[in-house]
Amino acid sequence: MTSDKITGKNLRIGIVGGGKRCKTILEMFQRQRPPKVNASVVIVADPDPESPGYQYASELGIDTTTDLEAFCERRDLHFILDLAGARDTIVPLLVRKGSEVPVLDAVASNLLYDVLNIQKELINTRRFLRTVLDSIQEGILVISPEYEILRVNEPLLKKLKRPKEEVIGKYCYEVLYGEDSPGGPPEGLCPVAEVIKTHRPHHTRHTHLDKDGKAIHHAVSAYPVMENGKVSRIVEISRDITQETRTQEMFLEQEKLTSVGKLAAGVAHEINNPLTAVLTNSMLLLEELPENDAMYEDLKAIADETLRCREIVRGLLEFARQDVPAKVESDLNKVVSSVVSLVRKQFSFKDITINQDLADSLPKVNIDKDQFQQVIVNMLINAMEAIERNGEIQVETSYDEQGHTIRLKIKDTGHGIPEEARLRLFDPFFTTKDTGTGLGLSISHGVIQRHGGSISFESQVGMGTTFTVTLPVV
Ligand SMILES: Nc1ncnc2c1ncn2[C@@H]1O[C@H](COP(=O)(O)OP(=O)(O)O)[C@@H](O)[C@H]1O
Ligand SMILES: [Mg+2]
Repeated sequence: MTSDKITGKNLRIGIVGGGKRCKTILEMFQRQRPPKVNASVVIVADPDPESPGYQYASELGIDTTTDLEAFCERRDLHFILDLAGARDTIVPLLVRKGSEVPVLDAVASNLLYDVLNIQKELINTRRFLRTVLDSIQEGILVISPEYEILRVNEPLLKKLKRPKEEVIGKYCYEVLYGEDSPGGPPEGLCPVAEVIKTHRPHHTRHTHLDKDGKAIHHAVSAYPVMENGKVSRIVEISRDITQETRTQEMFLEQEKLTSVGKLAAGVAHEINNPLTAVLTNSMLLLEELPENDAMYEDLKAIADETLRCREIVRGLLEFARQDVPAKVESDLNKVVSSVVSLVRKQFSFKDITINQDLADSLPKVNIDKDQFQQVIVNMLINAMEAIERNGEIQVETSYDEQGHTIRLKIKDTGHGIPEEARLRLFDPFFTTKDTGTGLGLSISHGVIQRHGGSISFESQVGMGTTFTVTLPVV
């Protein structure tokens, strides 16, 4: 028999001896055919039909015989394994079949058994490695020094939304960045190129936009696998740190607000007393001056401007007063309608109507009513100022069962918020108004945050703005 025949199609094997080893070999063939061996066992012979290998073979539907004579009759075998290792079988076997097909005696058969066993272990190790790689939630790539992807784990495939076949064998820059050469990611160094160059691990961060335009942040680490002093593979591990980064940004924002708040409180306290003195004195003087006095207008201007300063200082103190809210279980609808009835008249002078669409049987929320009234007043006044004259404000409440939250929306038909203002809207002192303090929204933001809620807005320049406050239900 030539080796050509052995590597050819389906090698038929006959086994003599139905012991444990026979069973193990059958199991191996059953579970996973050893790679590169296209073979199957077609007959098992043993004088004892109760032997485990014999039994298992008949369960699998493989021919079995207790008669060595009958075994030798088979003309279709490509080779024979003698697992019995007894003189009374090997001799007649060799005499009868030795000239037709190779007969592996017990020693050689055991050797083959060991080889198959090692292969089995190899396969198990590979399978284990794959399971380990797939259980790690980080994305893992094994890349060749030629930038070819050799391995990828399941979590990364899921993130890439691609089948394995579209990734393995492709270049990493193609798959990850849609580039046609290894220039690296647009905003930084390519970690794979760095590892190839330096032979050292490389860590970096990547930011790209998802299909909705939201920033996705990744921490990427690439490690060299060294063989004979050369980088033979690069293992790249990437972790989605978007959530962490966002929390960090929010934290920084909060820090900024807190320190500005402290500063504001200090300044406001200092200014408050002298301001009060200026104001009271100018008021007293005003009362004593006749209205046609030459100084009357000037003095009035002083009093008015001082009043305005007082407003700003009051706002600053408010902003700095990051009180723990005195929360009580409340009906948000009631808070909303009391504020609306308070401002309705004032707004109607400017031909601005306020419509309310308040959800029936809204679950209760835990809020500090005073602070919330102020938040709603702030937002309504902002809406009014954005409309200037003639428009509509819609106030809505609703319950989001899934999120277990309550939503308050304030929509206006005002001038909207230009792109360049959007990022800074909640910054303290950010204002686009001549007489604004820029504190309304930052105070509101703080109040809502201390209630465990959030505030966001959508706006179209020239069309209007909608502010949405979300609050957790009790
Ligand atoms: N409903 C709105 N429509 C358009 N712009 C708004 C609206 N609400 C707030 N803004 C913008 O946000 C800025 C900051 O608001 P705020 O913190 O209340 O301070 P202020 O009202 O004193 O300017 C405003 O100056 C305005 O440019
Ligand atoms: Mg305001």
